[in-house]
Amino acid sequence: MEIKKVGVLGAGTMGAGIAQVSIEAGYSVVLVDVVPEIVEGAINRLDKAWAKAVEKGKVTEEAVADYKAKLIKSTDIHDLNDVDIVIEAVVENIDIKKKVQKQLGELCKTDTILATNTSALSITEIAAATNRPERVVGMHFFNPVPVMKLVEVIPGVVTTDDVTQAVIELAKKIGKEPVLAKESPGFIVNRILVPYMNEAANVFYEGIATAEEIDKAMKLGAGMPMGPLALADMVGIDVVLAVCDFFFKEFADSKYRPSLAFRQKVRAGHLGKKTGRGFYDYS
Ligand code: CAA
Repeated sequence: MEIKKVGVLGAGTMGAGIAQVSIEAGYSVVLVDVVPEIVEGAINRLDKAWAKAVEKGKVTEEAVADYKAKLIKSTDIHDLNDVDIVIEAVVENIDIKKKVQKQLGELCKTDTILATNTSALSITEIAAATNRPERVVGMHFFNPVPVMKLVEVIPGVVTTDDVTQAVIELAKKIGKEPVLAKESPGFIVNRILVPYMNEAANVFYEGIATAEEIDKAMKLGAGMPMGPLALADMVGIDVVLAVCDFFFKEFADSKYRPSLAFRQKVRAGHLGKKTGRGFYDYS
């Protein structure tokens, strides 16, 4: 099956990035978010990224004009009715994901693939909420989407092989390296990365070192491209905490107990870069 037109539902950081890389690979994209300000924010982000790419001589102004012509923005989910795949990137909440996926199943063409960009949630549970569980698949991108090469592809228990294969091919066409993972909380990357960030938050909470020292230590002592607390700020501390809570519940193992530092930051509304404050101050 050939994918020509891509729909992206949810125009936050991940959705905007997914729309960007899909357009740059030549796909027409319908980008939808019910909140008009979020759609406009995504458009601004794309405009800035493309202006910077022109400045650096990476693309021509003509190419950017072509990108912009390939992008349809909307606040109406029904505008996704004729796309070949929807990559849903709404908030990381199982009830919201199930609700929007059910809606997508009702309004999209019968053969549209419904992909979900989830950090850790069950693809099978999301799929079961729709009228086409065999066409629902996990497609997990990483932040920042234009830079990170990986896409985890996660079939649910009834996802058909042609759907999995189509998504693997799509990931390759948009310049990513797909890795197939079986369904399990956090798949591969977050199963390993989130407990690492959680432990860094524990080290911070216990006062063993400052955020700067912890991050410096992991960059210079373990070769990480950025420190774990700066990474938590970039991903969003609320997102990291949600994944920790999910692991703790699913595995019922104390090794996944969320750090109190995460909880305290979320209670204070210090969610990281997006709110201007997390482990660091961005104001
Ligand atoms: N959006 C788009 N492009 C960005 C970017 C962003 N947010 N941040 C950096 N870049 C681009 C820069 O423009 C630059 O591009 P050019 O080479 O074309 O100039 C390039 O990336 C390198 O940037 P910098 O030199 O400014 O900085 P850097 O070399 O330190 O790289 C980084 C920045 C890519 C973020 C790097 O620090 C890194 O790889 N960090 C780890 C990121 C990571 O682990 N991500 C996964 C998070 S977990 C996740 O996403 C899963 C989940 O479900 C929670």
